Amino acid sequence: DRTLRVALLGCGTVGAEMVRLLHEQSADLTARIGARVELAGIAVRRPGRDRGGLPVDPALFTTDALSLVKRDDVDVVVEVVGGIEPARGWLIEALRAGKSVVTANKALLAEDGAALHAAAAEGGADLYYEAAVAGAIPLLRPLRESLHGDTITRVTGIVNGTTNYILSAMDETGAGFAEALERATELGYAEADPTADIEGFDAAAKAAILASLAFHTRVTAADVYREGITDVSAADVASAAEQGCVIKLLCLAERSGDAVSVRVHPAMIPRSHPLAAVGDAFNAVFVEARAAGELMFYGRGAGGAPTASAVLGDLVAVGRHRLSGVRAAGESAYADLRVRPMGQA
Ligand code: HSE
Repeated sequence: DRTLRVALLGCGTVGAEMVRLLHEQSADLTARIGARVELAGIAVRRPGRDRGGLPVDPALFTTDALSLVKRDDVDVVVEVVGGIEPARGWLIEALRAGKSVVTANKALLAEDGAALHAAAAEGGADLYYEAAVAGAIPLLRPLRESLHGDTITRVTGIVNGTTNYILSAMDETGAGFAEALERATELGYAEADPTADIEGFDAAAKAAILASLAFHTRVTAADVYREGITDVSAADVASAAEQGCVIKLLCLAERSGDAVSVRVHPAMIPRSHPLAAVGDAFNAVFVEARAAGELMFYGRGAGGAPTASAVLGDLVAVGRHRLSGVRAAGESAYADLRVRPMGQA
């Protein structure tokens, strides 16, 4: 009777949803992985907090994440805390010790993905992060695996649900920016500090991760030209509408020759364009590849359950790999492409 022991770091919206789904789908997950998934511990800031009947033994909560990830009986570390530190230290420690890591931490991957991949290579461990970009949409694994026989030339997408919700609401109801943002926060789409969403930092981090995987190179958040939506007014939205357009916050990553450029900014797009129809907090990503042509990925990019779905998918994958003793492909040997500022030839 085999067991996969999981350390969970963080128990907010996504973490709690993951615990719930693990509990509800326990039999199915056991069958799919070939081992029973057991929570070894849950690291949180406030262990005593009321968690509304979460199906979990309260004794599992700890404030000491570092000791938890180092424990010999832990096989996989799932991180849904976010932010650069202390998450980076925990994950590097875990990977070096050979523990597989599943993380949703886009900020960390976009700033220092190279360090995580290096630690994974050192420890011979898997590093999966499907939930870091576009929530529930299977997107990173297609880029990392399915499209590895092809050459990707451009990635265009709507990768921030909060801003898409806000811009869609402004377009559909004539709501003002502040009112639409408040509603997005209530619905749980916006980050705790919505600055990351509305100023485009969240989308820029995701764009860096997408570009790194699509072009087998290293693009960090700092390489991404970024403009948020705080200056988009109700009048701008109305004027775009008069011209048969909608305003969307787009992420664009392009490769030409030995250079890549990556940018995030609001753009007017004609209503006839498929991206114009992406409403609510949905995300959509177009991938253009030489042989495959145009591909489109569409779905829920934010929210507890959709993000937990991606985390659990990764957990099943790394769990299977561990049991069969294989490792997934790591960071591919990367091409040394130039990352050029926007507009430069
Ligand atoms: N705040 C993010 C969004 C959550 O709105 O898309 C998912 O990363």
